[in-house]
Amino acid sequence: MSHSSMIQQIRERARQQITQGAVTQDYKLDRKRVVDILNEALATELVCVLRYRFHYFMATGIHSQAVKEEFKEHAMEEQEHADRIAERIKQLGGKPEMNPAIITGKSHSEYKEGTSLADMIREDLIAERIAIETYREIIRFFGEQDPTSRRMMEEILAKEEEHADELTDLLFAVEPATGKGSRPLYFADEVQNASGAGNIAGQNSSTKPATKPS
Ligand SMILES: [Fe+2]
Ligand SMILES: [Fe+2]
Repeated sequence: MSHSSMIQQIRERARQQITQGAVTQDYKLDRKRVVDILNEALATELVCVLRYRFHYFMATGIHSQAVKEEFKEHAMEEQEHADRIAERIKQLGGKPEMNPAIITGKSHSEYKEGTSLADMIREDLIAERIAIETYREIIRFFGEQDPTSRRMMEEILAKEEEHADELTDLLFAVEPATGKGSRPLYFADEVQNASGAGNIAGQNSSTKPATKPS
């Protein structure tokens, strides 16, 4: 077939199937499966929005102001993710599932309230880590077959990794013991004579290496 008649055929098909919107005949993936997978990601995001908003309203304690702001920002970003995924589901001819009775069953992560500030941060961190793992799976599934959905999920994944990193820092600030062994402490490795929690980065940086007074 000549190049021009092939183009002609593609144009004909496009004209005949205009009701299918962005989905063209060369879309190789099973659309129902794709919509199911994206609906699970959507449910995950919606549960995250609610959990972060709940945490935003309930956060109390001496560290709460900074943490509250972080919860609020994350809630807004999870809502943006949900909107992008819903939009993509619609583009693919599917129905974005927003029925509250259904989304908890579809979500990868759970709605956990937490009873203290540290608990809340921990629950959020667990949820982010679950999202990171499952989104990586989803990205692999899309591969070269649906680059638009893959790119969207890659951008969302990058944000979830940022969230997890911020939560790890917050958890450490609220509960310093959580940093032991798993993460270099910013004041222990930057401040030469740091004896542990309570020192502020830079405060002791001009002093000599630690020598115990005899
Ligand atoms: Fe998200
Ligand atoms: Fe997140």
